[in-house]
Amino acid sequence: INIALVYGGRSAEHEVSILSTRSIYNNLDKSKYNIFPFAISKTGRWFKTEKSQQYLDSKIETIPDQKDRELFPLEVIDFLQKKIDLAFPVLHGPFGEDGKIQGFFDILNIPYVGCNLRTSAVSMDKELMKKLFAYHDIPQTKFEVLKKQQYQQEKNKKLYQKLKEKLGLPFFVKPANMGSSIGITKVNGKDIFAEAVNSAFSYDNKIIIENFVKAREIEASLISLNGEIRVSVPGEIIAQHDFYDYKAKYQDEKTRLIIPAEIEAKFREEINSLALRAFNAVGGDSMARIDFFLTEDEEVLVNEINTMPGFTNFSMYPLLFKESGFPYQKLLDKMIEQAMN
Ligand code: DAL
Ligand code: MG
Repeated sequence: INIALVYGGRSAEHEVSILSTRSIYNNLDKSKYNIFPFAISKTGRWFKTEKSQQYLDSKIETIPDQKDRELFPLEVIDFLQKKIDLAFPVLHGPFGEDGKIQGFFDILNIPYVGCNLRTSAVSMDKELMKKLFAYHDIPQTKFEVLKKQQYQQEKNKKLYQKLKEKLGLPFFVKPANMGSSIGITKVNGKDIFAEAVNSAFSYDNKIIIENFVKAREIEASLISLNGEIRVSVPGEIIAQHDFYDYKAKYQDEKTRLIIPAEIEAKFREEINSLALRAFNAVGGDSMARIDFFLTEDEEVLVNEINTMPGFTNFSMYPLLFKESGFPYQKLLDKMIEQAMN
């Protein structure tokens, strides 16, 4: 099978994608697959496979924007259509996890690893995701949505006050479409509110304001196999930071993953059933990692769904499946098998 391993990309999770891809590449069974890597720069240039392979084998953190190494859009399409049996977009965040690249492969009639266009789009957009969860009575935190235009027009001095009344303090301010906690601020008081809102708006024209709950952070991985959805054991994240932010995710060696999570059986069952319900609510058809809060009041809330979760060596998605009977290489085989069917 000739696989296009597409990585890097235009989102702020570019660097995470490179880390995920290196570990996927190392774990793919080379006797079964011919891998054609395609690096994409932050400006959206696609690079030739030789150059992309070099970037993958090196330690660089960001794909450099070298004009002379790029492939032109028609050359990309030509290569994909002539050579490729399956695309594996290891892209996180906008342009990679939000349906755009999925639509590109749909048009080219090339199967791909990961969720379909619609599931990707509604899962990436936290407003749509939360509204679908609400429609399906899936427990979650309280939230408000704010569009940039609305914020600029209203110049509403009472906005902070209103949010405080509705959601309580502290609350989180997040870009609606982003991952890896990029652009997220925990707001404890009025002094950092404007900065938090502007920071989130620097990534998206729409932001989410969410009430904070004191809770343990639990995650579960899902994969669809022959039409049946398998849910992994749950895992718990213990971060030393104030919350599980970008640093805690990728840079802090003190962040601990407890697999399986040490929680009562009733919570394990609830997480299992909520994982399936959340996955179905967004029309999930292949894989996802679902993140939960187990609150101090013993309530399980769904935080969010990630359709192309992190795949670094210390990422939850592969580690949870390793514990659930699918070591990394076998997991990748299953993901590929499911995408080819
Ligand atoms: N968005 C990152 C990659 C994750 O969910 O793991
Ligand atoms: Mg996410």
